[in-house]
Amino acid sequence: MWKKKILLGVCEEIYKMKISRTLSFANKLRGEITVPGDKSLSHRALMFNSLAKGKAHIKGLLHSDDTNSTIDCLKKFGVDIQNDSDGSILIFGKGMHSLNEPNDVLDCGNSGTTMRLLSGICAGINGISILTGDDSLRSRPMDRIVDPLTFLGAQIFARNNNSLPPVMIKGGKIIGGQRITPSAASAQVKSAILLAGLYADEEITVVESKTTRDHTEKLLGAMGAKFSIHGNEITLSPPQNELSAIDVTVPGDISTAAVWIVAASIHPDAELTLRNVGINQTRSGLIDILRLMGGDIKLENNRYIGGEPVADLIVRSASLTGVNVSGELIPRAIDELPLVALAGAVAEGETVIQDAQELRVKESDRISTTFKILSDFGVKIEELDDGLHVYGGNPINGAIMNSSGDHRLAMLGAAAGLIADGETTVEDADSVTVSYPTFWEDMEKICQL
Ligand code: S3P
Repeated sequence: MWKKKILLGVCEEIYKMKISRTLSFANKLRGEITVPGDKSLSHRALMFNSLAKGKAHIKGLLHSDDTNSTIDCLKKFGVDIQNDSDGSILIFGKGMHSLNEPNDVLDCGNSGTTMRLLSGICAGINGISILTGDDSLRSRPMDRIVDPLTFLGAQIFARNNNSLPPVMIKGGKIIGGQRITPSAASAQVKSAILLAGLYADEEITVVESKTTRDHTEKLLGAMGAKFSIHGNEITLSPPQNELSAIDVTVPGDISTAAVWIVAASIHPDAELTLRNVGINQTRSGLIDILRLMGGDIKLENNRYIGGEPVADLIVRSASLTGVNVSGELIPRAIDELPLVALAGAVAEGETVIQDAQELRVKESDRISTTFKILSDFGVKIEELDDGLHVYGGNPINGAIMNSSGDHRLAMLGAAAGLIADGETTVEDADSVTVSYPTFWEDMEKICQL
């Protein structure tokens, strides 16, 4: 009895324990990495093929906590999703009008994309859906989808005056003939509206304040949905027939490659080859920003995979100078902005990131968490309402930093640790499993001590 109690206590401790990783300055960064599949495209390939009719084979899918959340949710709508022998995924779509009302609460885990895009589908189908997520996701704003989807005819209730998850949706009657301007420039919100628009009786137009990633328009378009796109106005005509299932090969994720792009650029002795990276124009802001700073990034073997432009990237050490980042560049580099701040810390001069208030509502408040982490490394940095002001050219000292459960921040800390004087400890280091489960192994591979 006594033994059992002790054992249980130990197991509980291990279960609750957050893993830390310690690293120090790498003498050289060398080698090749094929980064995992694009997270945004993986979610979409899974969801849209679940809406379509027919069998689809998805290769190169990101296998991570976020995409597992999407798969688990889709199965609750009655979609048959199977693992194929070669690590790819098979989806047997029954058609958008044959999705079942979910048979359980949809647990979206840490994934905002899962919750917001699925909400659009839930608004379209007949029945009741309840969506929830982890502590981080339950503190992220959902009024940005509740308001437009309600305007389109769905009945929605959410916590905190219809702004926070859990979200309950009664769908089935989407009223078309409407123009909607989302409250934030957000591909997740645009996509939720367009997915609901598939079920509308007339066309629906989304007017974006800034261009956001266009994977939804491209992939749904390839499956037979009819879009007419003029600048930032996207009009969807509801399909007369079922969408056709489509095999997708998912390219590597530029937001994941970003940690190596920045690590190599700021390290004094680096040359990294990053294979198979998606360079969609709406996602490649980081490359433009680093080139403005003087970065040495070459694109080779430009090609198309799954309808998306892809290249191999060769990134070498560079002497960077500070830069101002704002306006249209922000949505094109939204998930990479904490790494831009790190590049700014190493660069000569000042780097100012503005118009990026959206960072405050990501997996953590990335303006304050990036400020805190880079301050811990000794960087001179100021927090702005809508961004960060970084004073570059000062030494970076090893630090004990905490990822706050945010995958991108764990990787930010690791990249800083690779160039810092002294030891760095990344606490809650396993948060990388949200988007890049093999991150720490890949880091060991390229670090030559
Ligand atoms: C995503 C869009 C972006 C991005 C997120 C993934 C997507 O969010 O930050 O990591 O897949 O559509 P917003 O659209 O809310 O800016």
